[in-house]
Amino acid sequence: MSEQFTINIDGKEVRAMTGQTILEVARENGIFIPTLCHYKGTSNVGACRVCAIEVENARSLVAACTMPVNPGMIVRTDTERVKNARRLVVELLWSSGDHNCLTCESNGNCELQDLVYELGIEKPRFTIDPPGYDLELTNSMIARDLNKCILCGRCVRACNEIQVNDVLDFSYRSSHAKVGPAFGADYISSNCVFCGECVDACPTGAITFKSARFMGRPWETAKVKTTCTYCGVGCQLDLNIHNGKIIKVTGNREHGLPNEGSLCVKGRFGMSFVDHPDRLKTPLIRKEGELQEATWEEAYDYIADKLKMIKSEFGSDSIAGLSSARCSNEENYLFQKFMRAVIGTNNVDHCARL
Ligand code: FES
Repeated sequence: MSEQFTINIDGKEVRAMTGQTILEVARENGIFIPTLCHYKGTSNVGACRVCAIEVENARSLVAACTMPVNPGMIVRTDTERVKNARRLVVELLWSSGDHNCLTCESNGNCELQDLVYELGIEKPRFTIDPPGYDLELTNSMIARDLNKCILCGRCVRACNEIQVNDVLDFSYRSSHAKVGPAFGADYISSNCVFCGECVDACPTGAITFKSARFMGRPWETAKVKTTCTYCGVGCQLDLNIHNGKIIKVTGNREHGLPNEGSLCVKGRFGMSFVDHPDRLKTPLIRKEGELQEATWEEAYDYIADKLKMIKSEFGSDSIAGLSSARCSNEENYLFQKFMRAVIGTNNVDHCARL
């Protein structure tokens, strides 16, 4: 059973419960502790140590994201010792990769960049030693640049714990450690289903949307929250718009249900139909063997005439209606009502059942 008690963070008495971490209690109380490897909805691994804090009587600094609270705990989050440790961690992460912000797609939307700025690091004390990985552009949806990977493991946990696809994991050790599908395969040759959860989870520019490369900076992009049109689940998503075009689709983990920010391949990468030149924007009626553009009034009159004619000649049950999972529940309700009450048949079905 959860027990309530108080702990002290930076001189402030705050309420906590058994099972919570120091990070959770701090965030609930508006106390900022930086994180990188921590990712909501996945297990706490304590990999990056950016959330280092002091706990009175502890032998060393501890990771706030993994340390459970205890009654009477005294925690300090902003001492010089804590700040120096965070600075060292961030300098090491920076120097172990090629974090060239000038052309990075995540410039302006990078948690490592934010930390470097916040900690006031001009440049790392260590020699920058990029691992020299090739940029992976072998599929049309996701670009990977492992030179910008900080091995936080967020993509691995997002893949395995949120989407449960089990495609990504760590391989090799030490400075050769890297993240990816088994046997060093690229995404397209692996079992990846291209849900794009790893792209949303990546805190740097290591995994990005290929279609959005050089299409617009994050601060030039407007986010429009909408409902996915692909199925009846009603996933909430953000269309990222630049110059009137959708350049990428991101999940917003603050939206909550039904998808908590997760998306499938269609919702994430299937929105190019919106601007596609072949998209139908007006009804077409075949006249003299040719499909010709018509107004909605002409189309409705045409459909009504044909339905009346078929019904009177062959009976109501010669007509069937198939509705769509893209419609709302209310629209589908009206459709079946129309088929039953107006056409007079129970021949009605729905593509989501197939
Ligand atoms: Fe706590 Fe990485 S956020 S160790």
